[in-house]
Amino acid sequence: MVFPSGAGNPAVSPLLIENAAGIAMTKSKTPKSRRASGPGTDGRALKVKVKKAKGRSTSSVRWLDRQLNDPYVTAAKRDGLRSRAAYKLMEIDDAHSILQPAQTVVDLGAAPGGWSQIAAKRVNAETGAGRVIAVDLLAMESLSGVEFIQLDFDDEHAPLAIEELIGDTKVDVVLSDMAAASTGHRQTDHLRIVGLCEVALDFARKILKPRGTFLAKVLQGGTEKELLAAMKKDFERVRHVKPQASRAQSSELYVLAQGFRATAKI
Ligand SMILES: C[S@@+](CC[C@H](N)C(=O)[O-])C[C@H]1O[C@@H](n2cnc3c(N)ncnc32)[C@H](O)[C@@H]1O
Repeated sequence: MVFPSGAGNPAVSPLLIENAAGIAMTKSKTPKSRRASGPGTDGRALKVKVKKAKGRSTSSVRWLDRQLNDPYVTAAKRDGLRSRAAYKLMEIDDAHSILQPAQTVVDLGAAPGGWSQIAAKRVNAETGAGRVIAVDLLAMESLSGVEFIQLDFDDEHAPLAIEELIGDTKVDVVLSDMAAASTGHRQTDHLRIVGLCEVALDFARKILKPRGTFLAKVLQGGTEKELLAAMKKDFERVRHVKPQASRAQSSELYVLAQGFRATAKI
């Protein structure tokens, strides 16, 4: 797997940060050595034009067009990463230093494994110094240094099964990129994703070490503001982040909570 430094790559270093008070642009203070790679480091790609073939729906033409012309998809292939989503975690970590060597990380909604690849690399899980426990509904091909458990995190027994795998220890970081398949109905999708974020947060409050970090996907749409308020009680710093690798037209957003107070009543 290749993790080029990509230092100075203007396509990925700035982050669009939204806080509870509104939206503001901030620049990443990423040290050069930790900057993410991403698209744009090997020249401009040619635009691929997807024609509407017989039997191909307009939405599948749109999807294909987006995939073929998405610089992050191209970069993920080039860098040996399993998903374009890997660049989102890289960017967020570069800006907010959430992953450190020798940490234990739980990655919820891990398949196909892009985030786990980044986490494993950055906590040194391959050498056994750190640990990455990946969880998904779907099967995931094995990854060096990553312990995988296939289960539905919505199942009431899921948290206990994960805790058993983790063993008698607390974890430094809980990541959740969980997203149920889109229904196409905006409000329903929003409620489902916020629901997943809530169960992930409950779990994080149980297993995080003091000063631990929780990062989870949400969608813009209202309810996440309540979630944000609840998180502020348990974490020192809570903010919304929208990495450049997250499509601008998508209402996807990440909530980043750092400095777990560990005084939360479960
Ligand atoms: C956007 S993908 C994650 C991509 C991943 N972060 C990566 O970099 O490769 C969302 C994942 O959430 C998983 N997921 C959705 N609902 C889940 C649930 N209830 N329990 C476990 N995984 C779930 C899906 O199966 C899917 O693989």
